[in-house]
Amino acid sequence: MKAREIAIVIRNLVLGANLESLGSLNHPRMVANYATECRFLYHSLFPNGGLPQKPVWEALGAEQASVTFYGKASEDWFRPVASYATDLVSMCMLCQILKPKIIFEIGTYHGSGALHWAGNAPGAELYTLDLPASVSPSLSVTAMDTQHIAEHARTAQMEFVGTPEAARIHCLYGDTATFDFSQFAGKVDLFFIDGAHSYGYVRNDTLRAFDCCKPGSVIAWHDYGKMGFNGVSRWLHELARQGKKIYRVPGGSLAYMKV
Ligand SMILES: C[S@@+](CC[C@H](N)C(=O)[O-])C[C@H]1O[C@@H](n2cnc3c(N)ncnc32)[C@H](O)[C@@H]1O
Repeated sequence: MKAREIAIVIRNLVLGANLESLGSLNHPRMVANYATECRFLYHSLFPNGGLPQKPVWEALGAEQASVTFYGKASEDWFRPVASYATDLVSMCMLCQILKPKIIFEIGTYHGSGALHWAGNAPGAELYTLDLPASVSPSLSVTAMDTQHIAEHARTAQMEFVGTPEAARIHCLYGDTATFDFSQFAGKVDLFFIDGAHSYGYVRNDTLRAFDCCKPGSVIAWHDYGKMGFNGVSRWLHELARQGKKIYRVPGGSLAYMKV
């Protein structure tokens, strides 16, 4: 872990941990996660200048939508920390409401998100981009990204293999900093950014998304407001200051904007 990342862990422990968590100090990693999530919750309840909170159906003017979950494949999202489930529900609702024809996802991981986006957008072709196992990211990444990259490289089989949705899910391989997005220019209806979480990568991935998106499309980012190793909030606050109308879902870490 780099010195800056150690400083983030210490800051989160000082600000986010509480007396009860002292009873679990024999699990230091879990206490560090707990403190980080406490800070996320605190800043969700007392936003003090963060992105405005709005459910996706309200921002997109939809009354209702039903969503489909894929049992075991949804386990990456249904965790003890509820914000991930909120993000999954909100992304599935975006798919249902927008009825996209082309979805682009950065960060395939186990393919759980890809299966849910394709399943909740039955008319869509879904393109999902991840690093090939042999390629290292060219920009700097966070410690958490390094873990995700290694886990993706180890994944033997994507969650969507063997499902009817698999025929509409297209895996692409490359580093988003160097990948050629030109075949998607102006064609994408829903763009989900969930690759590396350093400021440099989230900025790069957003600029590529703007090139790819149609007017009226939606860009969504995962992990906004998370207080660990994460450049998402810094970049999105910068973008909001430039006049972009970006919301975050209440209780979740999904941020989104209409293009
Ligand atoms: C948090 S996981 C994505 C989770 C996934 N979207 C889901 O719905 O379950 C992040 C993924 O981004 C990939 N990634 C990290 N840096 C990348 C880069 N520079 N280019 C492409 N993919 C990258 C990692 O390999 C990892 O699989």
